[in-house]
Amino acid sequence: MDRIKAFDTLFVNPSDKDGLSKAAKLLSDGNVVAFPTETVYGLGADATNSDAVKKIFEAKGRPSDNPLIVHISDKSQINELVEEITPVAKKLIDNFMPGPITVIMRKSSKIPSEVSAGLNTVGIRMPSHKVALEFLSLCGCPVAAPSANLSGSPSPTTAMHVKNDMDGYVAAIVDGGDSNVGLESTVVDATGDIPVILRPGAITSEMIDEALSTTTAYAGALEAGSIPPAPGMKYRHYAPGCPVEIITLPNTLEGVDYTDEKLSEEQKDEVFKLFAPFVLRAKEILDSNPAARIGIFGGHEISYFVEKLDDERFSSHINFYIYGDLCDVSSASHCLFDGLRHLDRQEVDVILAPGFKGEGLEVAYMNRLSKAAGNIVDDVPSRAYDEINDNTVDIPLEYFDDVFTSSVLFVSENDTNLSAICEGVLTKLFAKKGPFCSSENRKIGAELYVESCGLYASDGLSPDSMAVEAFSDVVGGTIAHHLSRRADVSIYDMNDLILTAHDKQAFEILNSYPELDGRVFSLSSYMASKGLVIKGDDGRVASVSIPDPTGENKETYIHTTKAIKAWLQILFPYIIKDLGAERFS
Ligand code: TXA
Ligand code: MG
Repeated sequence: MDRIKAFDTLFVNPSDKDGLSKAAKLLSDGNVVAFPTETVYGLGADATNSDAVKKIFEAKGRPSDNPLIVHISDKSQINELVEEITPVAKKLIDNFMPGPITVIMRKSSKIPSEVSAGLNTVGIRMPSHKVALEFLSLCGCPVAAPSANLSGSPSPTTAMHVKNDMDGYVAAIVDGGDSNVGLESTVVDATGDIPVILRPGAITSEMIDEALSTTTAYAGALEAGSIPPAPGMKYRHYAPGCPVEIITLPNTLEGVDYTDEKLSEEQKDEVFKLFAPFVLRAKEILDSNPAARIGIFGGHEISYFVEKLDDERFSSHINFYIYGDLCDVSSASHCLFDGLRHLDRQEVDVILAPGFKGEGLEVAYMNRLSKAAGNIVDDVPSRAYDEINDNTVDIPLEYFDDVFTSSVLFVSENDTNLSAICEGVLTKLFAKKGPFCSSENRKIGAELYVESCGLYASDGLSPDSMAVEAFSDVVGGTIAHHLSRRADVSIYDMNDLILTAHDKQAFEILNSYPELDGRVFSLSSYMASKGLVIKGDDGRVASVSIPDPTGENKETYIHTTKAIKAWLQILFPYIIKDLGAERFS
């Protein structure tokens, strides 16, 4: 979607009553205004004005098939927005509004289809945040609002996050300080006889059960961390640019003072177990890649013990984001999105974050964290099934002082299958995730491109027809025009990074041209060199080996193409770094 930087965005400090009225006036006049809530910041527009609502999607850079939550400042507004307040809805409203909950009810004709995305229901939410209530009441209309992040980045929990994503794209941003809860509201479908949680949040199923004396259902069998099938869940929110690994915590140790020298041996053991998985994992990563930079989202216990361990590699290779006590899930939730954004900005190669067991608020925390980490389906990370995101940044051409080029070469056997698909996928990623600049100097643009060749290829052959079909099904677009090429040293020389589908081919190239050492990797040795290990839900290490589909059926080609897409999306940040570039956004 086109994002047009069309606004001189007004920034409003909450104590500035005049400013708040101005921002509310901008909204009721049909503009988009970002405002604080206790969960995350919202991107609001008049919910009764279709044209205004459409502008939300332009600012967010996401398509409009996801329903929006309608925000109110007074419960008396609900009646005209919905067809029916069921007994379940009434109890939820009485018990939890205002607060971090969204109640889904059948909508009235006042709600345009731009808000409900064609559904016959609408989500109503009354925040408990003081500035939010003041602002909403000044607007004088129901306010449709998704979270105020750019599509694909974590939800914003500070006005600064909103500014980073939305400056110039919205009419005003109201600053209301840090969002207290830090995770989006619990979305509950209250159209039936029992409440159904579509998205876990700070109002937990336990709280709802207790207040309503019912047994709340989750949409789908929701385990801690799994993804409920609410519309909109297919979008990849919450994801930072680098991989996130979840380090599951052993039994909690609340109340033990880990700094106490007088701890019993038993207690020391327990404390060690608590932070050991983080430290061991960090060690493992540094052992396999001494240059790795590791981000740890954790409690102060971890930094204390890392200091104590006195491994000099740690001090220079670990970036900490400390949210409070390791076992305090409220602090972890409150800081999660800020932590992901912060560590991502430090350009760490991987983020380690604690995993909780999954009760109460832990369910919501794990739900958001596992999305950031990407789930595993059939050994293929779920990112395989996501669309390759657009990064639609408009930059004037004259912005860059200079431009350099850098390129990746994929090498396979015949260059009619795997390498052609790899070339197609990475080319698409470069096109969609650009523009790029030099990682040394953001005033120098980077033009990244991709080539392929085969060790035993004949020149000028088209890709296998099934590879072409699978590519267009899985990735979109075509590789039909690709022509195979025989590998030779002049091709190697022209490329900055050479990746092969299998170890064997990388060995073969290095055998003939030892001077290329450091530039040639198989996909799996490349992963390993970055200290990247991807684990499946079952805890097994997922293999990056991609079998050659030649002679197999279409299903195999599709699976292969999905796997390539998934792995290249994961390797993408490493690849551009090795090319001397970073995303310009
Ligand atoms: O805490 C929050 O809920 C924040 C603040 C700004 O209020 N808003 C928010 O909005 O997170 P958004 O658009 O990022 O997420 C809304 C979620 C989506 O998963 C959407 O599919 C679901 O709520 N949703 C909204 N209306 C729905 C409906 N009628 N039926 C089912 N799901 C709905
Ligand atoms: Mg959102």
